Amino acid sequence: MKLLLLGSGGREHALAWKIAQSPKIDKLYIAPGNAGTANEGENVNLKADDFEGIKQFVLEKGIDMVVVGPEDPLVKGIYDVFKQDEQLKSIPVIGPSKQGAVLEGSKEFAKGFMQRHNVPTAAYQSFTGETLEEGLRFLETLQPPYVLKADGLCAGKGVLILPTLDEAKKELKEMLGGMFGNASATVVIEEFLSGIECSVFVLTDGKNYKILPEAKDYKRIGEHDTGLNTGGMGSVSPVPFADKEFMQKVEDRIIRPTVEGLAEEGIDYKGFIFFGLIRVDRDYSCAKAGDPMVIEYNVRMGDPETETVMLRIKSDLVDLLEGVAEGNLAEKTIEFDPRSAVCVMLVSGGYPEHYDKGYPITGIKDVDGSIVFHAGTALKDGSVVTNGGRVIAVSSYGANKAEALQKSFQEAQKILFTKKYFRSDIGSDL
Ligand code: AMP
Ligand code: GLY
Repeated sequence: MKLLLLGSGGREHALAWKIAQSPKIDKLYIAPGNAGTANEGENVNLKADDFEGIKQFVLEKGIDMVVVGPEDPLVKGIYDVFKQDEQLKSIPVIGPSKQGAVLEGSKEFAKGFMQRHNVPTAAYQSFTGETLEEGLRFLETLQPPYVLKADGLCAGKGVLILPTLDEAKKELKEMLGGMFGNASATVVIEEFLSGIECSVFVLTDGKNYKILPEAKDYKRIGEHDTGLNTGGMGSVSPVPFADKEFMQKVEDRIIRPTVEGLAEEGIDYKGFIFFGLIRVDRDYSCAKAGDPMVIEYNVRMGDPETETVMLRIKSDLVDLLEGVAEGNLAEKTIEFDPRSAVCVMLVSGGYPEHYDKGYPITGIKDVDGSIVFHAGTALKDGSVVTNGGRVIAVSSYGANKAEALQKSFQEAQKILFTKKYFRSDIGSDL
C-alpha cells in the first residue's frame, strides 16, 4: 500500500515510525514532514492544507490512503474534499469530516454535544459581543478561578484561567473585542475543574472503536508545572491512576456516548478522537471525586502523547487504519506493549516566547536504545538544524516508568544544540 501522511511535527514522526513498520506498506510519503520523517519515508514538499496540490500528488503517485496528523486540514474539510471528488472519493482519508472536526474547531459545539449526550463536562455558558453584559453578570455567579475559552482554534492559546473576578471581566471584554480575531467572537465561560489530567485516544470507524494506550502530557514550560503553557514538554504512558476501574468509567460514560452521539447526529467520523480528561478530586454535578470528566475533544492524536502511545501499540497500526477505512474495525484486535514508554521534549531556549532557529544539532547518532522523534527540525546543507520551539522528542521504553525516564534523560544529554532546554521532572508527579 502507498500511504500519504500529512503534517510535520513530532506526532507525525511518531506516526510515520509506526506506519513504516507495517508489512502492508510499500511506500510512505510525508507532506511536508521534517528532517526525521525523511528517515521513515519520503518527504513531499506540500503543505498539509494545500488540497489542490495534495490531489495532484495523490493521483500521480496512486496513493491508497491518506492519514491526517494535525487538526487544521480536518477543520478545513479535507475529508469532504476527497469524498466529493470523483477521482478521489475511493481513497480513504483517516480523520473526521468537516462536521466532525467541529468537535475541536468549536468549543461551543463541543460543549453542546457533550450536554446532548450526557458526557460529563464542566457546566458552561457561551457569550458573544452582543451578550457581553450577561457574560459579566454570569462571571459574578461563579467561584474563582475563572475559565474563559475562545470558541475557535487559537493554536492552543485560546484558554485563559484567571484567579480574580476583575481579571476575568477584563479578559472577557478583550476576547469578545477581538483578542483572537474571529476565533474569540464567541467565548465559553465554564466551571473550573480541579484534579489531574490525562489523555485518552480512540480510533473509530464511526460505529466501533478501539481504545489506544492512554498518556499524560506536561504542558507548562517550567518544572513542577510552572510558567507558560507550551505545546507539550513530555509524556508518559501508561498513566498509573488510569486504572481498570477509571478506564471502565471513561469507556461507559465518555467514549461510547461520544461515538454513538456522532452516529446519531449523522456526523461522518472515521479517525482518531482525543479525549482530554481530568480525574476530578471533588464532587461535581455530573461526576464524583475520582471520576473522569471531559476538558476537551480533539480530532487528532496528541503531541507529545503520540511519541509514547505509538511505542505502546504492539499491533500493526496500518491494519487498524484499514479497519477504520473499511468499517470493520470491530474485527481487528489491538494489543498493547506492557512496557512503560516516556518522552522528553528538547526545546529551543526562549520557547514558548521568542526563540531562534537554525542552530546545528549534533549527537543524534550517538543516541543508543532510545527513539529520537524530530519535532521542529529541518535539513540545511545536509545537516540537521533546529526549526521550531519544540525540537526533538527523546522516547524510551522501560520495564517501568522510572527506568524509561532514566533512559530518556540519559540519552537527552547526548543531543546538543545552542540553548537546548528540557524539563527534568517529567513523570515525577505520578
Ligand atoms: P484546552 O485548550 O481546552 O485543552 O485547555 C487548555 C488547558 O486548560 C487544559 O489542558 C487544562 O489544563 C486547562 N483547562 C481547560 N478547561 C478547564 C477547566 N474547566 N477546569 C480546569 N482546567 C481547565
Ligand atoms: N498534548 C496536547 C495536544 O496535543 O493538544
